[in-house]
Amino acid sequence: MTSGWSVFIVLVTLLNIFGCLWLLRWTSKPKAAGEKIGGGADTGHVWDKDLREYNNPLPRWWLWLFYLTVAFGLIYLALYPGLGTFSGLKGWTQNGQYEQEKAAAEAKAAAYLAPFATMTIPQLAADPKAMSTARNLFQVNCAQCHGSDGGGATGFPNLMDANWQWGDDPDTVVQTIAAGRMAVMPPWGAVLGAQGVDQAVAYVQQLSGQQADTTLALAGQTLFETNCAACHGFDGKGNPILGAPNLTDDIWLYGGDAATLHQTLENGRNGQMPAFGERLGPERVRLLAAYAIQLAGTSN
Ligand code: HEC
Ligand code: HEC
Repeated sequence: MTSGWSVFIVLVTLLNIFGCLWLLRWTSKPKAAGEKIGGGADTGHVWDKDLREYNNPLPRWWLWLFYLTVAFGLIYLALYPGLGTFSGLKGWTQNGQYEQEKAAAEAKAAAYLAPFATMTIPQLAADPKAMSTARNLFQVNCAQCHGSDGGGATGFPNLMDANWQWGDDPDTVVQTIAAGRMAVMPPWGAVLGAQGVDQAVAYVQQLSGQQADTTLALAGQTLFETNCAACHGFDGKGNPILGAPNLTDDIWLYGGDAATLHQTLENGRNGQMPAFGERLGPERVRLLAAYAIQLAGTSN
């Protein structure tokens, strides 16, 4: 607000309040002259010969209520923001109140989370109270992608099995949740051509124990060792440092059928796990890491 507008608003507001005050005082005085009935003066308006309009002052108690509202308005405007850019004597702001409430909630949560800070992740995973807190956190922050039971969906890993794409040791899981993960599986359509993709798909199917055309798969093996082994390993067992999944276990993030594999290879995949470190803070992240490890039944 420019200072011109501020002055304008202050003037209009005060003019209104003092205008009301003046109006109250003016109307509370009995009018001069006229026939006096009940202390007031009549306005000279008469209907049906005997129905007269009087101009009596307001009853005292009623008048005082009005004065009170004027006083309330002035006191309120002195204490709280309302008069233009004047911030009020109390220095109250909406943001300030929000920050205060947030700090109070954080302090309450900190007290609740404090006992968990000294526990190791395996200890947390074995602690029923910690796990019940973690379950609530999971439902609020993670269930929309990983499912309310942690069972996952296509493209969103199942956290209930012992199969880990990025690794299962506690520090790694904390890292996954705090910093997020961005998987880079490059697209191979242009590199391998249609036939090459067919061959690689056949080999991946064979690796995972599915039926596949052996001639195609044999050619696919050569392609795999040249192009894929760097990330997925020569044996196809994957590399958790890169988030490259094990392709031999017949557990799929996107799907192991020929059509899905074609899609994965042609277009690549970029699964993204969002980072929660900043939003949730280290204590909650550790609780959630313990929860994920406990879900997978591989606490170590
Ligand atoms: C927006 C969706 C989304 C949300 C919300 C989400 N995740 Fe994930 N998460 C993913 C995706 C996608 C991946 C797999 C990334 C990839 O393709 O490598 C993943 C991977 C993971 C992994 C690694 C699994 C493995 O096998 O290594 C863990 C652990 C995990 N998430 C836990 C959590 C927790 C705990 C929360 C809640 C704080 C959470 N996620 C919230 C999408 C999500
Ligand atoms: C740069 C490393 C890298 C290379 C090279 C690479 N991949 Fe991947 N691959 C990944 C990563 C990382 C993922 C996980 C993608 C995700 O989570 O979104 C993945 C995912 C896959 C999947 C999906 C698995 C599932 O569970 O659905 C298949 C299939 C696959 N790769 C096959 C191949 C083949 C075949 C090649 C070679 C032609 C190859 N990859 C080359 C890193 C790589």
